[in-house]
This record gives sequence, structure tokens and C-alpha cells, in this order.
Amino acid sequence: MQSKNIQSPKFPNIHYRIMGQGNALVLLHGFPETGDLWSEVWGELSKEFTLIIPDLPGSGKSMRCAEPLTMDLIAECVKQILDEEGIEQIVLAGHSMGGYAALAFAELYQGYLKGLIMVHSMANDDTDEKKEQRRKSIVLIEKGGKDVFVRQMIPNLFSETYKKNNETKIQAHIEAALKQDAESLSDFYNAMIKRPNRVQLLSGLPFPILWLIGKEDTIASPDKVLQQSTHANVNFVEVYANCAHMGMLEQPSMLVKDIVRFTKYCSRLI
Ligand code: MLT
Repeated sequence: MQSKNIQSPKFPNIHYRIMGQGNALVLLHGFPETGDLWSEVWGELSKEFTLIIPDLPGSGKSMRCAEPLTMDLIAECVKQILDEEGIEQIVLAGHSMGGYAALAFAELYQGYLKGLIMVHSMANDDTDEKKEQRRKSIVLIEKGGKDVFVRQMIPNLFSETYKKNNETKIQAHIEAALKQDAESLSDFYNAMIKRPNRVQLLSGLPFPILWLIGKEDTIASPDKVLQQSTHANVNFVEVYANCAHMGMLEQPSMLVKDIVRFTKYCSRLI
């Protein structure tokens, strides 16, 4: 694995990992994570593909953007990494918030995509109620309540079975999230509040989409995601039992198998 950086006026310092060889597969993490989110699966996936795994602006080893964060800006940042590597064809996987950014990428740079993987993610925007909830969390975080916020939200990402059997891993996950700056957490929440509804975009996308769904996910709920998948033209859908929002940790072997099969399928299409 190599650790690399891009630097530009818009993106003062963005860190990414690159590993493996073959067709390019880009993995975008969700909130409040870093590229390390994929560490349980990147060994297997890099046996098949060239993996590019950024820390999104303001997370992990990446600096915040010079301007207010949006999903479009995250997409532009991913495009700059691809330009740096001279890569023009990818399969793009986004976990939750990473999926919101992946859809922005699909809108802006459709020609780069051979396929899209929505990992516990969805195409709708926030409801007014959700926006309000996020605004309250931003106030809490900005008033010094980052710890309370993180400790409360992380356990809810996992299934009951996983929580019962993996207390140490969940604790480690909380500790990792606590390392994120309060400002960056607010940036991401503001960017999610501002994101547009991209359900209609799905019907115009010319490449296949893989939807990975956790049966116990309360954020990207199976009902909502399954309904959205009907808008796209070519869909692959996998619903994991004993899994909530974190398939790369809760069901890593199945997730690897599904991503490998889909990415190979997309690669044969070109
Ligand atoms: C995530 O996992 O990225 C977040 O839960 C997404 C969200 O809050 O909508």
C-alpha cells in the first residue's frame, strides 16, 4: 500500500491510499469515518483491483477544503485524485455519506464510471426533520459536545448481534471517530443537509448499480433503498441478514464477494 497526497488551492492536502493492481475501484467512506473504514476488506479487494481509498476532505490525514464543503466538492476532489493517477475508468463505491458523494460524482463525471456501488446508501435528500436533527447535532458539536455526539451515534450503526459480540471493536470505532475535528464533523453534516435529491438521476445512468443493504439498517433502511433501486436501469441488490449500516465490518466476506463479482462484471462491459 502506498500513501499519497494531492495538493491544490481548493484541496490544500488530501490523503489517499493506493494498493493492488487491475481495474480501478475507488472506495469512499461515510460519516464520521476515514478511509481506514475499509481496512478489513482492502486486503482481499486489492488482490483483484487497483484500490484508491481517500480520506475525504477534513477526515483522517486530509485537510479541510478552502471553501464550504458540498458533495459536489467531494466529487471534484475524487476526480483530482484520478487525474493525478491518470485513471479515467473506475467502479466507484460509496458507503452512506460516501454514496451521496458518489452520486454527485455520477452527475458531474458520468463518463468515468463503469459502475456504482451504493453501500448502505441512498439517493434522496434529507427530510426537513432530518435537517433539523442535524442542525441540533451541529450546535451540540460546536458547543464542545463532540464526545457525547460520537458516543451516542456510533453504536446505532451496528446490528444487535454485532454489538453483543464485538464490544472492543465498537469501542475502537468510537475512539477513531473521536479523533476527527469538531469543525470537520460540522462540515460533513452541513454538506449532507445541502445535498440535493438525486433519485431522478438514477434513471439516466447508463451503467449498472449494486445496492448493498443491511436488513437491520435504520439509516439506509431496506424499504427505502429497495424502492429507490427500481429507478435505475440495471440493478444488482444484496440484502444482508445480521447486518445494519456497516457491512464492511459486520459481513466483510459477503461484501467482498459481492463487490468483486460486480466490479468484474462492470469491467467486462467495456
Ligand atoms: C454515514 O454513515 O455516512 C451517515 O450515517 C450518513 C447520514 O447521516 O446520512
